[in-house]
Amino acid sequence: MTDDGRLLTDPAALPPAEAFPTRRPFSGMLFATPGRFRVDYEINPYMEPGVDAERAREQWHELVETYRRFADVSVLDVEATRAAADGQAPPADRPDVVFCANLGLALPDGRFLLARMATDQRRGEPAYLRRWAASTDRSVERLRSDAVFEGAGDARWHPGRRLLWGGHGPRTDRAALEEIAARFDVPVVPLELTDESFYHLDVCFAALDERTALACPAAFTDAGLAKIRALFETCIEVPAAAARDGLACNCHAVGDGRVVIDEANEATAARLADHGYEPVRVSTDEFRKGGGSVACLGLPH
Ligand code: ARG
Repeated sequence: MTDDGRLLTDPAALPPAEAFPTRRPFSGMLFATPGRFRVDYEINPYMEPGVDAERAREQWHELVETYRRFADVSVLDVEATRAAADGQAPPADRPDVVFCANLGLALPDGRFLLARMATDQRRGEPAYLRRWAASTDRSVERLRSDAVFEGAGDARWHPGRRLLWGGHGPRTDRAALEEIAARFDVPVVPLELTDESFYHLDVCFAALDERTALACPAAFTDAGLAKIRALFETCIEVPAAAARDGLACNCHAVGDGRVVIDEANEATAARLADHGYEPVRVSTDEFRKGGGSVACLGLPH
């Protein structure tokens, strides 16, 4: 494929999604235990203190149980991985590690590319994924440049295809997407995120299947939206208020038309149903106090 190894920037030059090679579908989901989750710093506009730790634990367990119906679930035990912080601050200082989509990105060949976090508060977190990967014999790669890359929070594979959607701006650097494209020989569609409330790609964009995406137009440039509309036959548009209030776009398609979504998103769930999807409702409101919901809480691999 001639587009391998570079960023696909021109909406008018995009081939249809079917032109990209297929890739192995992901069947695994990794979750990180929520025992340390709380909100006591603010690195995104949603963060508000006052997490009910007990309720957060219940919601996390319910989410993980829900996923067991659809995926091979693995759990990264944050407390037991204390040593993985390797000279970094101990887990008590990593309250956001529960949002394990940010720890790295699974590559089609089974390796993980570790994240490099934008903020000091989260800096030590990718070490948890490294330790988990080592314990399960999966190899990990690191970025060679010093670019920021916040893992699957900002990088989502096109369903079924060897084609990566990459958000950049608030957190991830465009240079990281360039490195991924060149080094792993994958075409990457860069999407500049223009609004601080859409600080990761997964809070404003979800690929539901090969032909359909859910996206919040307010998060993107005109060129970015044009790229989404060029590669997906249908783009279900979510108004900015819904994308912010319930993190509606932070839902996750788990195959067979099922979409796991926070129950606060009644209108979006109804739209999904209108388009033939089956919304699987969960509650993640304790985690929304940290700025994350369904898609942030699991790492597909
Ligand atoms: N408090 C975390 C942060 O700001 C939330 C991360 C949410 N994760 C995501 N993939 N959007 O980094």
